[in-house]
Amino acid sequence: MLRETRARWLAAATAVVVVAHAALFAWLHNPRLPADADAVAPAADSAADEAGRRAFAEMNCTMCHSIAGQGNPASRLDGVGGRLDREAIRAWTVGDGPAREALGGMAQMKSRYADDPRLDAVVEFLARQR
Ligand code: HEC
Repeated sequence: MLRETRARWLAAATAVVVVAHAALFAWLHNPRLPADADAVAPAADSAADEAGRRAFAEMNCTMCHSIAGQGNPASRLDGVGGRLDREAIRAWTVGDGPAREALGGMAQMKSRYADDPRLDAVVEFLARQR
């Protein structure tokens, strides 16, 4: 009887030690957010921003472009809002105007974005990338 009690106590104590170690391990190995987390990953400041971010992914812009390391690093659009105005961003997105020539055969493929209902949202989103 006493032996059984001791075995049960031992099993419970072992469980506690295992859980404590798992918690300690998780705490040590999960990267903590830096104090200025907002500077690293700015929170979406509006619903429109979030819609644009989603449009950028859903329209498969990430197949060729990336923002903040998400997508194809071959063509980064980080800070594109500082380089191009809305009109130019729209032209590059749909392969129109001066961008058409620069894009060559790619302009044809991009022209399908012109009728996409998410176009405004994605242009606005890119214009905000500073
Ligand atoms: C199949 C590949 C491809 C896809 C998909 C694509 N693009 Fe592009 N895009 C290009 C290429 C190529 C360029 C010209 C080279 C460059 O700027 O990287 C370009 C240029 C741009 C530029 C100008 C970048 C600059 O810095 O001058 C913008 C803005 C842009 N694309 C927006 C978009 C958006 C928004 C989408 C999705 C709706 C999209 N693109 C989808 C290939 C693509």
